[in-house]
Amino acid sequence: MPETRVLFRDIDAPGLATIQGYRDRGGYGALKRALHELEPDELLSSLEDSGLRGRGGAGFSMGKKGSFLPRGEMEKYLCCNADESEPGAFKDRELMQKNPHQLIEGCAIASLAVGATYAFVFIRGEYWEIADILDRAVGEAYDAGYLGADILDTGVRVELIVHRGAGAYICGEETALLDALEGKRGNPRLKPPFPAIQGLYGGPTLINNVETLSNVPHIVNNGADWFKGFGSEQSTGTKVVSVSGCVQRPGNYEIELGIPSREIIYGLAGGPPKGRRVKAWFPGGSSAPVLTEADLDLPYTFEDLAKAGSMLGSGSIIVADDTISIPELALRTARFYHHESCGKCTPCREGTNWTTKMLDRVVRGEATPMDLEIIAGVQEKIIGHCLCVLGDSMAMPVGSMVAKFRDEFEATIEAAREAGHGALDHSPLDRPLTTGAQAA
Ligand SMILES: Cc1cc2nc3c(=O)[nH]c(=O)nc-3n(C[C@H](O)[C@H](O)[C@H](O)COP(=O)(O)O)c2cc1C
Ligand code: SF4
Repeated sequence: MPETRVLFRDIDAPGLATIQGYRDRGGYGALKRALHELEPDELLSSLEDSGLRGRGGAGFSMGKKGSFLPRGEMEKYLCCNADESEPGAFKDRELMQKNPHQLIEGCAIASLAVGATYAFVFIRGEYWEIADILDRAVGEAYDAGYLGADILDTGVRVELIVHRGAGAYICGEETALLDALEGKRGNPRLKPPFPAIQGLYGGPTLINNVETLSNVPHIVNNGADWFKGFGSEQSTGTKVVSVSGCVQRPGNYEIELGIPSREIIYGLAGGPPKGRRVKAWFPGGSSAPVLTEADLDLPYTFEDLAKAGSMLGSGSIIVADDTISIPELALRTARFYHHESCGKCTPCREGTNWTTKMLDRVVRGEATPMDLEIIAGVQEKIIGHCLCVLGDSMAMPVGSMVAKFRDEFEATIEAAREAGHGALDHSPLDRPLTTGAQAA
């Protein structure tokens, strides 16, 4: 099954990243239409009617979220979340690198829709080359009159600022992002109040992902019904999916939502190397509960993945084939979240630390099968009890791995115990993932 390219149309065309290249393909036509033909409320209704759901993780309706911002004269803000730090996610990077004006146009239109004067793109620190590309494109948009104090001589003001983060995964959480933008340490805030009511500098703020905002010009140009023509009833449009791990053709693929997951993993990404099979896969980044080979025919939609006990999240598929040790994969996953936990709340701070230590003991042969019960129980106690969902983001995949691959965890403990307690004198994290047998 081929890709369905909307955001990725002409993505590799030379010059697309320049304003001329973008305008040659109809770029900034949607902004003109939004300025001259549509009222902000019509823009918001069209976004809501399109069914566009956030592409950054939670999958909430963009138009609905925009409608939560109060009307009135107070200063409002738009924040584009370009932090993209979750393992497996790399779609926003390509969208910004190769088509920055699509995002800038989306930010300008979304700002008009909610009445925001200032828009910020919060980009992860490690994407410094992409930030330079964005800065250049923003400069071109200012020069052409698409941004600034009086855009296209309409008296409407939209300023856009590219802000570089400092490389912390937690700053992708929307309220930590706001604190970081304000110059504080990026720690999540207690919600409510939600950013739509009290966000950046205390003002109403719409926060959306790069891909979500990149869809906006297409919806304004073609209409909500056109957008709904792609995908399923609850998952409309296309999705840029990042596929990585044990596949022959890793990369970003834009698909129509609803195609079988197998088509993405095998058809587009080539499946695992010859002779191997899919053992586990994360359908929505490392924070999604893992699925197995038996789930490969699930339609790739928010609702179908949720029904199967996982989630679409940011749309990042990570594939583990039968050479991968699931206990080691669980350990690596836990260690990432432990490292990135901001430490503000106890279940996450202590739970990620403790889980990492226990999984390390499993892999080293210092655990007992009873410890698996405790590990599983602790994940259940973390889920739903943290200030933000970073704690759940570890507990959900780790819990799913222990539940679905219990036999392998037990075999790993047994094999490592037979080899002698502490037989593994190095950290298993110092080398590539292997099978349990090789690890022992
Ligand atoms: C720990 C953590 C990290 C996150 N990182 C990102 C990120 O890098 N990019 C992103 O768009 N959303 C990220 N999110 C989700 C955001 O909090 C928020 O839901 C999203 O930016 C909203 O945009 P959307 O509705 O367009 O998806 C993260 C959430 C958490 C809890
Ligand atoms: S869940 Fe983790 S990252 Fe989120 S606030 Fe609590 S300690 Fe910080």
